[in-house]
Amino acid sequence: MSQTLSVIKADIGGWVGHTAVHPELLAHTQAALARAVSDGLVIDAQAHTCGDDLFLIISHERGENDEAVHRLAWETFESGAVIAKRLGLHGAGQDLVADAFTGSVRGAGPGSAELTLEERPSEPVLVFLSDKTAVGAFNLPLYRMFADPFNTPGLIMSEPLHDGFSFEVHDRKEQRKIVLTTPDEAYGLLGLIGSPGRFAVKRVISRRTNEVAAVCSIGDGSQLTGRYLGEDDPAAIVRCQGNFPAVGEALEPFGTPWLVLGGMRDSHYGPWMPVAEAQAHPSRFDGPARVVALGFQLHEGRLGLARDLFEDPAYDRARAEANRMMEYMRMHGPFEPHLAAMDEMERESLPATAKLATRWTRA
Ligand code: 13P
Ligand code: MG
Ligand code: MG
Repeated sequence: MSQTLSVIKADIGGWVGHTAVHPELLAHTQAALARAVSDGLVIDAQAHTCGDDLFLIISHERGENDEAVHRLAWETFESGAVIAKRLGLHGAGQDLVADAFTGSVRGAGPGSAELTLEERPSEPVLVFLSDKTAVGAFNLPLYRMFADPFNTPGLIMSEPLHDGFSFEVHDRKEQRKIVLTTPDEAYGLLGLIGSPGRFAVKRVISRRTNEVAAVCSIGDGSQLTGRYLGEDDPAAIVRCQGNFPAVGEALEPFGTPWLVLGGMRDSHYGPWMPVAEAQAHPSRFDGPARVVALGFQLHEGRLGLARDLFEDPAYDRARAEANRMMEYMRMHGPFEPHLAAMDEMERESLPATAKLATRWTRA
């Protein structure tokens, strides 16, 4: 019997500002998910946070884009937004863009990443959570995990990985998608996903078995409508071991704090810091961006205890490096490339730029 892991996420109000999720919101969400488990709607479910984003991790047998599972997420967020408003939280309900639930959270505001699998006797799965970053942030780490033997020796050493992986890439401007295979089409792939604001990896698929190895919450072809439709602060699910990278290979890309778009006012490049869930509360300059890695050893559809995998002194150097990088990037103040490029930000509409509109003369 195949199982589905659904990670559905939203920012329904920040405490304080954009830094964290209020404990009352988290408790409300945990209670709603526990009810869904005891009602038998889903096998298992947990709520986790990264910064001001709330992530529902749900294991069930109802398939992807299932109306009942999506309704559970939507109604949990909707009732959570009522609490957020009562508590006066920042941006209460901000990611619930649709007026009402219409059968799926896709295109309605929240982000979703869903992966269907036949559970193996040992089924290690990682769920990555992020905050203060943007769609496409997982492009680089996913490439390293699944296509770079300097990161993943399994591509050389393990028979099933040796056939390589396919990457489903979405073009957010033209609303189209393409599948490229590695290692043979690696250069073509990099030519696209090196521009993560436009091209974002949605799925990675094993060429050996056709199993989905990883999926990101970047929306899908029909709903590539803009960054505020559940696309920022993405989540990713990655299967590990056997036909997939080892757990340590899937975590290894985060030993480097890559520069990502996000941070203050969603408009600044800064380092992406790997942290334990308890440290995922970006306060300095609404950053640096955070990534949390939760490990699950799935068993009979149950998630079991989540292992907080960046709660490891081996990432101390990456965290120190991220703090140094943040210091350096901040020195640029309102200049690119700390500030995102003008065409990424639609800055023409900013008050300071708009005020000058009538003052220009031909040069
Ligand atoms: P979030 O996308 O995490 O809500 O942050 C928005 C922002 O403007 C931070 O300064
Ligand atoms: Mg927010
Ligand atoms: Mg956020």
